[in-house]
Amino acid sequence: MSGLAMSPLWEGFSRLPYRQRMGRIAELTGFDQASIEALSGHPVTADVGLAESCVENAIGYFAVPLGVAAYMLIDGCDVVVPMAVEETSIIAAASSAAKFFYPHGGVTTRTEGGLSIGQIQIPGPKDSRRVVEAIETNQGYLLASANELVSSLTARGGGARRIEGRILPGMVVVHVYVDTCDAMGANLINQLCEGLKPVVEDVTGEEAGVCILSNLTDTRMSYATARARQVDRRLADGIVNAYEFAAQDPYRAATHNKGILNAVDAILLATGNDWRAMEAGAHAYAALTGHYRPLSRWRLEGDDLIGEIRLPTAVGTVGGVTTIHPTARACLKMLGVQTASELGRICAAVGLVQNFAALRALSTSGIVKGHMNLHARNLAILAGANQEEQPVLVEKLREELQHEKRLTLTRAKALLSEIRNSEVREEVAIGTK
Ligand code: MEV
Repeated sequence: MSGLAMSPLWEGFSRLPYRQRMGRIAELTGFDQASIEALSGHPVTADVGLAESCVENAIGYFAVPLGVAAYMLIDGCDVVVPMAVEETSIIAAASSAAKFFYPHGGVTTRTEGGLSIGQIQIPGPKDSRRVVEAIETNQGYLLASANELVSSLTARGGGARRIEGRILPGMVVVHVYVDTCDAMGANLINQLCEGLKPVVEDVTGEEAGVCILSNLTDTRMSYATARARQVDRRLADGIVNAYEFAAQDPYRAATHNKGILNAVDAILLATGNDWRAMEAGAHAYAALTGHYRPLSRWRLEGDDLIGEIRLPTAVGTVGGVTTIHPTARACLKMLGVQTASELGRICAAVGLVQNFAALRALSTSGIVKGHMNLHARNLAILAGANQEEQPVLVEKLREELQHEKRLTLTRAKALLSEIRNSEVREEVAIGTK
């Protein structure tokens, strides 16, 4: 528990040399050497075996940067959040927004549901109502048959909980609601639906079609809330106005939600979860009312700014890549989560904080400045600066940002040649002394 005292271990963290940063991570997480090494990814990339066990025609790995979001206070606990992502400003923005909310108690979360959905389609039934009735009447038998198909899941306390028929134009769709415990559960559900297909056909007297899980898991939800007290009125109004924009306009809501998913996907990638499933579910949920909506909401209560998010979170802490990938295992350990619901809640919390960071930037200085500040490092490398020149060039580029809105590669190259020329002049001056 934090007692609202931010850990001094985060101070100056981003500017530390790599080794010292990893030393701080070891202190923050209590990690041993093996876990620290797993974070670097080397144990995996040194051997193509894992890639071969995951995909056909494996030729290697594509390395994505792994960082940690700092100052994250979730349900009263300090959480070191691993994020695998290539976009420059995401982790910096999340950390800075988390620092803002820290003295206000951070973010609180909860979950609801916990059931995933499998679908069995019955196309062109003779009588849709009769099919739905048959499903209802045979509910007990269908559930027992379903659970026999996934006996290892039922042994862990999970299994099919409810079955119902939904009438859609030209078809009935049978929904099987399954508790997949701490697994994301896609394979389990697909196996269950395909196995149950002949039983459904037998019970309904109809031929079944497509059998597959649904990625719209509005039956497995995570919620997060952040409240900042006595917020500067201009800032608070800016955030609320930015939210209203997203609430009114799906063109803006798509970008608003992309900002939330920047954080969620990065956590999911780091923990070996299926981030495409999350993307699909989040966008479908956002459009569930028939109008594409923001996944978060910001409002004022007196001088307090309150942010809330609802997110369908079909995530897992066991099974698949979460179990076989050493870096994913180390990241899950770093988060300190055991259950899928804990991981889902962290995704919602960090997604909300990331959203605040974006709205704060958009409603104040704009997004370009922060991006450019961090982009300076990329530009320095692209311009061809060597190890010694890079910090000097980055400093110069950042100075330029005080009065320029944008940094370009052309400008970075020009500054680099200025640095090199001044070095040559200095060398000549020393030589002539
Ligand atoms: C960029 O990756 C994400 C943002 O566009 C999100 C937003 O606009 O809310 C900054």
